[in-house]
This record gives sequence, structure tokens and C-alpha cells, in this order.
Amino acid sequence: MSVLPKNEPHKPAGTPRNFFIWGATMSGKSFLAEHFPNTLVLNTDGNSAMGTAPSIQIRNTRKADGSLDQSCIKQLDEIILALGTEANTYETVTLDVIDDICGLIEQAVCLKAGVEALADIGYGKGYAMFNSALQGLVMDLKALPLNVVYISREGEVTDDNNVTTKIPSLKTKYYNVVNGNCDLVIHTQHVGKNYLRNVTEIRRHYHESQIDDPQLLPILKAIPGALTPETKTVKAGNK
Ligand SMILES: Nc1ncnc2c1ncn2[C@@H]1O[C@H](COP(=O)(O)OP(=O)(O)OP(=O)(O)O)[C@@H](O)[C@H]1O
Ligand SMILES: [Mg+2]
Repeated sequence: MSVLPKNEPHKPAGTPRNFFIWGATMSGKSFLAEHFPNTLVLNTDGNSAMGTAPSIQIRNTRKADGSLDQSCIKQLDEIILALGTEANTYETVTLDVIDDICGLIEQAVCLKAGVEALADIGYGKGYAMFNSALQGLVMDLKALPLNVVYISREGEVTDDNNVTTKIPSLKTKYYNVVNGNCDLVIHTQHVGKNYLRNVTEIRRHYHESQIDDPQLLPILKAIPGALTPETKTVKAGNK
């Protein structure tokens, strides 16, 4: 049999599976992520331990002499392998918060090389090692048959005209790696008594009728802008 697929148009996936939620502290990021079906939280800040979803603390463990014992890269690898190969009932994996996971990966690369910063590893090798670890993590997560939710805090940029814009606090080059593999980017805000959500980026128009996961539908419905109203098809000759 040929390795090539049949040359015919295929239907693009109608259900978003990879999400990026960003917002200020206490704006409802973890709250929204917890509503995804059967969630496993990979947490870094301890805040998600307040939630009810099962969670694993991601960290680098060190030996008594300060050298690296087990790296978060290995820990994440083992979790992803288990999610992909062991029988389990998880449907969503949440990284709360991805900013810190990037920091931990950076720390793991530095500890392993016995240096203080990525730049101390010569010829850009430190950055290359970091990038391949992050890229690998994002690709491995995407390959799992699960929803993936990345959570990031809020930062801001001020332009030449002194206009301040809120942006995800994840460094731009890391954001591009993560976001290049996301379908929906959601900004959460806590204004007065209200918890607001709005879509800041979306891969394509998602329609209610195309969402193949009934558990995701109510979540998408609770995010203004996530679903596009159905387009009514007018039959030819039906004027
Ligand atoms: N839509 C909502 N309706 C009612 N309560 C909410 C809503 N969203 C968040 N909350 C409440 O607001 C509080 C903070 O929410 P949450 O922990 O999700 O914030 P967070 O953005 O994850 O904050 P942090 O960055 O500190 O982790 C929680 O007590 C949560 O129950
Ligand atoms: Mg949180």
C-alpha cells in the first residue's frame, strides 16, 4: 500500500482541541480549565491544588549537593508516555502555568550543564536544547488523543504612543511555539463582580453542529466568540 493519502479533499477538524487561556491573577483561568472534561492538571504554582481535579506538581528535584536529580523534562516525558500508553480516563491535560514550566525546563537545562544561564552554554547550544525540549513537549501533547489547555499569566506592552496593551506573559518566542499549536486563545478578566472571557485568537470558524465532543460544547458556548453561528445554506433555485 502506498504511503501517500488518496488525492481528495479531507474535512478539517471541526472541534478545537488545543487551548491557550491567559489572564491576570484570580481572573478565572484555572476555574475555566477545570470545567474541561476529566482533567489532569500539571501544576507549578500550587494554586491548582485548591481545585478538585487530580494534579501532579511539575518540578526539578535536586540532590543534596545541588546537582540535578530528576528533571522536569523527564517527568513530563513520563507523564505523556503514561497518558498515551496506560489505560486511563483522562480527556484533558492542563498545564497550569506554562510560563513556569518553561522556566523549569530552562532551569533543568542549566542544572544539567552546571551553568547559571542558557547563554553560558556555548554556541547557542543552551537555547537550542531549551527549544527542542519545549517543541518536543508541545508536539507530544498535541499527539495525545486529549484536549490540551495551556494557562499563562498576563503581561503588558507599552508602545511608542504610550498605549498599553495586555498580552500573555509567556515570552513571545515561547508563545509562538505553544500558540502555533493551539486552536483557541482565550483571555479571562475579572471586572467588578463579573468574570469575563473573550477569544483573542482563533484558528478557524467553529460551528456548533461540527463539535464532535458533547462535553466540550457547553464550555465553548460559555466563551463568547468561540462558536460562529451556523451559516444557512440557500438551495439553488430557492429564491
Ligand atoms: N466564571 C466564574 N464564576 C464564578 N466564580 C469564578 C469564575 N471564575 C473564577 N471564579 C472564582 O474566582 C477565583 C479565582 O479563580 P481562579 O483560581 O480560576 O483564578 P486564576 O486566574 O487561575 O488565578 P491564579 O493566576 O492566581 O492561578 C476562584 O475562587 C474561583 O472560584
Ligand atoms: Mg490559577
